[in-house]
Amino acid sequence: MAKLTKLDDIVSLCKRRGFIFQSSEIYGGLASCYDYGPLGVELKNNVKKAWWKSVVQMRDDVVGLDCSILMHPMVWKSSGHADKFADLIAECKKCNTRTRVDHLKDKEDNNIENASGQDLTNKVCPSCGTIGQFTEPMPFKLMFETQMGANIDDSMTIHLRPETAQGIFANFRNVLDSTRVKVPFGIAQIGKSFRNEVTTKAFIFRTREFEQAELEFFCEPGTDDQWYEHWKEARCKWYTDLGMKKENLRFRDHDPDELAHYAKGCVDVEYKFPFGSGDWQELEGIANRTDYDLRQHQRGMRTLNKWYENDRDLSKISLIDESEDYNKGPLSYFDEQKKERYIPYVIEPSAGMDRSTLAFLVDAYDEEEVRGETRNLLRFHPALAPTKVAIFPLVKKDGMPEIARKIYDNLKKYFNCFYDQKGAVGRRYRRQDEAGTPFCVTVDGQTNEDNTVTVRNRDSMEQTRINADNVLSYMREKLDM
Ligand code: GAP
Repeated sequence: MAKLTKLDDIVSLCKRRGFIFQSSEIYGGLASCYDYGPLGVELKNNVKKAWWKSVVQMRDDVVGLDCSILMHPMVWKSSGHADKFADLIAECKKCNTRTRVDHLKDKEDNNIENASGQDLTNKVCPSCGTIGQFTEPMPFKLMFETQMGANIDDSMTIHLRPETAQGIFANFRNVLDSTRVKVPFGIAQIGKSFRNEVTTKAFIFRTREFEQAELEFFCEPGTDDQWYEHWKEARCKWYTDLGMKKENLRFRDHDPDELAHYAKGCVDVEYKFPFGSGDWQELEGIANRTDYDLRQHQRGMRTLNKWYENDRDLSKISLIDESEDYNKGPLSYFDEQKKERYIPYVIEPSAGMDRSTLAFLVDAYDEEEVRGETRNLLRFHPALAPTKVAIFPLVKKDGMPEIARKIYDNLKKYFNCFYDQKGAVGRRYRRQDEAGTPFCVTVDGQTNEDNTVTVRNRDSMEQTRINADNVLSYMREKLDM
């Protein structure tokens, strides 16, 4: 039986095999920022491709978008982020470490995440262990600020987006006017988001720069509950279709006091991550955002002049109230069949691509004893595996490298392949096991006699001989590509 996977084993494999590195490592690293190495970038790209395929490509009711990270400051006033996007933190009076109040654990409690309650008398400082010596909780703003513009006179403070969703709401009208979409329909986007997180932990689980894959699905008010259920099921299926074990996934409904300011309902898809004693942690949130965002942006559009009049200072203004006929405003939708105008409701599945990548890594990681040695492997679904097929000549002579190269040159036109002729073949298999490569093809002495090669299966380690001319069709069938 495989031993309980430890995050440390995965972090070490990721570094050793070039999946993930600490950012700016040569300068001692930058906290909570990570770089994806040669295998990691392929893995994460495959996770993103699989999301896009399922949410956009395979559906007739979703279109894609790619918005800029920098947006007009009023976007964040309207969305509520400028005023409300903050974590409540408390500072330890002994060591001055600031911690999110909801992440402080009780003296007797091992569960770090989602600890509730504002009474800090029994809470432990995670840095120095002092109990109950905290300042009054205070809000800490999570958006990164920067200055835009070279001239002092016309430069302004803007924010790095903390979610990709607002770019979609800001383009709702553009998409309606430039395509033939009709409600119900969705707009999807994958892109970077930034949050100046207070508590960072667990490798790429919570970072300050991360990638989100978000869908805003617009539907008629009254049909929102039904679409919420639809997306819950569709999103959970995505993970299991890509090989994630069902027993490591669950839904957790948000309590009413936990709901974001915009949400009518929200459920987290949680994964059983191997932090500490084994923690259920959020992988993705699915929220019913109602018509909140589009209505807020309508208010923001009405408030724009006030922003100019107040030195472009968001803190000096508040949003103008909605007009009485807000349902007919610039971000409303006209239902041609019903001859009705309304602001659509929104169901939002929002997944973290780095978090999903970590979950797929954890789920695929395995160790087993083979002939007295430990074999480490990543049992990735073929769609996610960074390299699909590795091709080896058994030895560097007798024409084997030439035949192996020919197979490699043909296969790499269709999938990501790897050619390796160095070292003992057993070692080369082990390296590919650690990279999660589903198949290895070896050209050996028999190839010259009967034109067959060995195909070795990563998971079962079984070896099969097939005709060298059939390698491509064999792989296409096995990899389903
Ligand atoms: N638009 C809704 C939204 O942003 P969220 O629950 O704050 O909702 C959605 O974020 C997802 O983005 C999370 O479930 C998580 O996977 C990912 N995410 C959020 N903050 C993150 C961070 N600091 N590091 C890595 N992933 C993060």
